[in-house]
Amino acid sequence: MSEELKVYAPPADFAAQAHVSGMAAYEALCKEAETDYEGYWGRLAKELISWKTPFTKVLNEAEAPFFKWFEDGTLNASYNCLDRNVERGLGDKTAIIFEADGGEVTKVSYSELLAKTCQIANGLKSLGIKKGDRVMIYIAMSVDGVAAMQACARIGATHSVVFGGFSAQSLRDRIEDTGAKAIITADCQVRGGKQLPLKAIVDEALGLGGCDSIQKVLVVKRGDAKCAMTAGRDQWMDDLVSGLPTTCEPEWVEAEHPLFLLYTSGSTGKPKGVQHSTGGYLLHAALTTKWTFDLKADDVFWCTADIGWVTGHTYITYGPLALGGTEIVFEGVPTYPDAGRFWKMIQDHKVSIFYTAPTAIRSLIKAAEANDAVHPKSYDLSSLRLLGSVGEPINPAAWEWYHQHVGGGRCPIVDTFWQTETGGHMITPLPGATPLVPGSCTLPFPGIQFAVVDEVGNDLPWGKGGILVCKKPWPSMIRTIWGDPERFKKSYYPEDFKGKYYLAGDGAIRDEKTGYFTITGRIDDVLNVSGHRMGTMEIESALVSCTELVAEAAVVGRPDDTTGEAICAFVVLKRPRPTGDEAKAIAKQLRDHVGKEIGPIAKPKDIRFGDNLPKTRSGKIMRRLLRSLAKGEAITQDTSTLENPAILDQLGENN
Ligand code: PRX
Repeated sequence: MSEELKVYAPPADFAAQAHVSGMAAYEALCKEAETDYEGYWGRLAKELISWKTPFTKVLNEAEAPFFKWFEDGTLNASYNCLDRNVERGLGDKTAIIFEADGGEVTKVSYSELLAKTCQIANGLKSLGIKKGDRVMIYIAMSVDGVAAMQACARIGATHSVVFGGFSAQSLRDRIEDTGAKAIITADCQVRGGKQLPLKAIVDEALGLGGCDSIQKVLVVKRGDAKCAMTAGRDQWMDDLVSGLPTTCEPEWVEAEHPLFLLYTSGSTGKPKGVQHSTGGYLLHAALTTKWTFDLKADDVFWCTADIGWVTGHTYITYGPLALGGTEIVFEGVPTYPDAGRFWKMIQDHKVSIFYTAPTAIRSLIKAAEANDAVHPKSYDLSSLRLLGSVGEPINPAAWEWYHQHVGGGRCPIVDTFWQTETGGHMITPLPGATPLVPGSCTLPFPGIQFAVVDEVGNDLPWGKGGILVCKKPWPSMIRTIWGDPERFKKSYYPEDFKGKYYLAGDGAIRDEKTGYFTITGRIDDVLNVSGHRMGTMEIESALVSCTELVAEAAVVGRPDDTTGEAICAFVVLKRPRPTGDEAKAIAKQLRDHVGKEIGPIAKPKDIRFGDNLPKTRSGKIMRRLLRSLAKGEAITQDTSTLENPAILDQLGENN
């Protein structure tokens, strides 16, 4: 394996100016953490975060795996991201360059963002929302979205952002689980030249029942269509905040105070509310932005993720602002008005650090290869100095293209492995230190103790694939699953490893010579489609909830050139197995149903109908066979335990 590795050493000029310069510096940090784990994190927490009350204890393991970090310290995340930059003389510095879907650009300074945040915070306070309350945010990419999150943090309310692509049903489930008092939304979102409703989906969600906790719906005005408002419950954000003071004393919270809940998919049951802390989370958000992205005062940083995902939380709302950086917030989509949009925006705003997902890169490669006008070579991308990738494995071919055509061969690429649960980067190159190998996320971030082990937790030698675990707690780790501590323990600290190791849910292998990590994919029933994480069980439940049609369904992933993985559903109907046009029509109906239950991102790409599913004699669905069928592979596995072997031929036909 090692022999074939293509290695890209950090360019000398990049290394010379980097926050972490050279492998010796990386190794020294790892060593510092190894020698004095608490001393290391304590030092960084003092350097990067402003505390109202300094902490005296770094880590409390008494109730492991419910770890506490910096527990007697108090702070405020919004103070750290806004006020302290203004106090440092950065008030006039641009915090956010907002580009709307249609191309209009708005620049917002730190002082302006602080004032806006304070007004929203005062508005929330005037409604009786206080520390410990939950507030949902269901809004598109916007300055208002970032300010709403910051405003919640400012008053100690725990925000829970729901991605604008999720359906009313998904939103309802999350509202019910959080018991939120208010929702911040917008009348609509604008994407690809179209206005898509948001407030109407909130209305639908609230109409589904179970949302009695919601007292107020605050609506940011974005579009020009009429928007239904329920008297007493709904209020325009502008009406609430206009005239309110632009200052608001931050609520100083304990380091462990929940900053946010973010729902993500697991292998079983409903999505789980990942609970993050304030102190430890903010530390890692700031630290990884500094070291992985090498963020400097004059950089223009652009993370293309949506604030509805963890990447948008850590690398839009918190990390770059905590460091006083300038960042892009983009409302639109990469293909509107054409597939050159990202490249044009990099050129127009002189973006120096660009962070996106492999799916976006792969789809833009296709577009660029078909049309020179949207090829990166048609734009001036000389402002770029660093590129990043996140959310799914980046295949070496896409890596090379990104490196050569976007990065001009000079920009390092940081392939960052992490998860909603980890809060920030876990395994990633540091661009001024780590030699890069396409397809590998390289080495753990200094202080992070990831390892590859077997089923019972024994370390595996390099070169042998196994289970990815983290051996030590880290500051930005998930604290619990909201309302379900038992599920937290079972999912992340299973007995297989004596409850001692954090189970990431991914498989990994370390290179025999370099020890570099390559992520081999999820080891549970979680799919990664375009970098969006989804549980197969969730999609199956959505399918079988179409009770008039579906008797049984099984969902698996199959590799896809653009989206990484594609969703493939095998469905048994309550009526005879359809073929031809009837099959197509029912497949469409089922896709739409899943879109309504979860959101368009969960719609299966392939739907195949069978008289039955492949099952063992005890009635268990044999998913590994379905995975082979989905890939179009010949079945070479042992099928002796299969009760109904003939079903494989039927499901193998692409109907
Ligand atoms: O399977 C891994 C994959 O995405 C999962 C986490 O998804 P989510 O919680 O939605 O967070 C995505 C953004 C951090 C992981 O368990 N994943 C994430 N980054 C990478 C990756 N797989 C390979 N390489 C990566 N760089």
